[in-house]
Amino acid sequence: MISQVLINGEASDGRIPVTDSSVLRGDGCFEVLKAYDGRPFGLDAHLDRLEASASRLEIDLPDRGDISSWITRTAESLGDCAVRVVVTRGSSVPGEDELPQVIVFGHEWAGDPGPVRLFPVEAPWHAAGVEWDLAGAKILSYAPNLAATRRARKEGFEDALLVTTDSRVLEGPTFSIAWVIEDVMETPTLDLGILDSITRRVVLEAARGLDIEVSEGSWALDRLAEAVEVMALSTIREVQSVSQIGEESFPRGPITARLASVFEALTRQRPKPGN
Ligand SMILES: Cc1ncc(COP(=O)(O)O)c(C=O)c1O
Repeated sequence: MISQVLINGEASDGRIPVTDSSVLRGDGCFEVLKAYDGRPFGLDAHLDRLEASASRLEIDLPDRGDISSWITRTAESLGDCAVRVVVTRGSSVPGEDELPQVIVFGHEWAGDPGPVRLFPVEAPWHAAGVEWDLAGAKILSYAPNLAATRRARKEGFEDALLVTTDSRVLEGPTFSIAWVIEDVMETPTLDLGILDSITRRVVLEAARGLDIEVSEGSWALDRLAEAVEVMALSTIREVQSVSQIGEESFPRGPITARLASVFEALTRQRPKPGN
């Protein structure tokens, strides 16, 4: 089920003009949040990242409070749901106004997806640490990421693990990756130009809170052969066990299980009175 679609806060039939630059060229940015019991999780962090992405693209957003209320209204209408926020640049046709459109709608998400198997795919389009204007922005142009997922599926896996052309581990097409070696949780550093995932942030903080040592760095793919457990992290997946990468298999280990349950508890936590 999908919620009422809001465009710039107005109830809409969900259509946007074909002249919009986001349709023509993927020119825009987006966020995906999850709401639990009708309350969006990590709302401020998602709004911060949306503002940062829009600013990198030089798109003027409506007021933050307005966008926040559109998200909250959508979340309340569905309860447990994913809320998508898509910001388009507006028309790119001469003579028409370049008016950004902020599209907000919610939909249900499928329950626990179970462990995932990943196939390593080279990502030559990934900045992989080279600084550029849109580094870290969550831009709409995800066609290369989705092509990597399709490539992995053709190989009989559920999704891809993106690696640089010299085999450094980056992230999944729509998720971050972390693994455990000798009780240390390792994850690719943000310096590699991977998305500053909000789930990754929350899970790393939870790990530190549980006295699990965390190491952020740059590792070659063959490092994963030493891992005893591997996890995929994202708003949609939460903390998902990775059961296979290429030829290597991994069990769902105790650290993944602990972090998954801490994360779940955080998502269901009620705000303290007065907040
Ligand atoms: C490339 C990429 N990495 C990581 C993530 C996970 O980010 P978050 O935890 O904020 O959902 C996403 C989410 O869409 C993504 O697209």
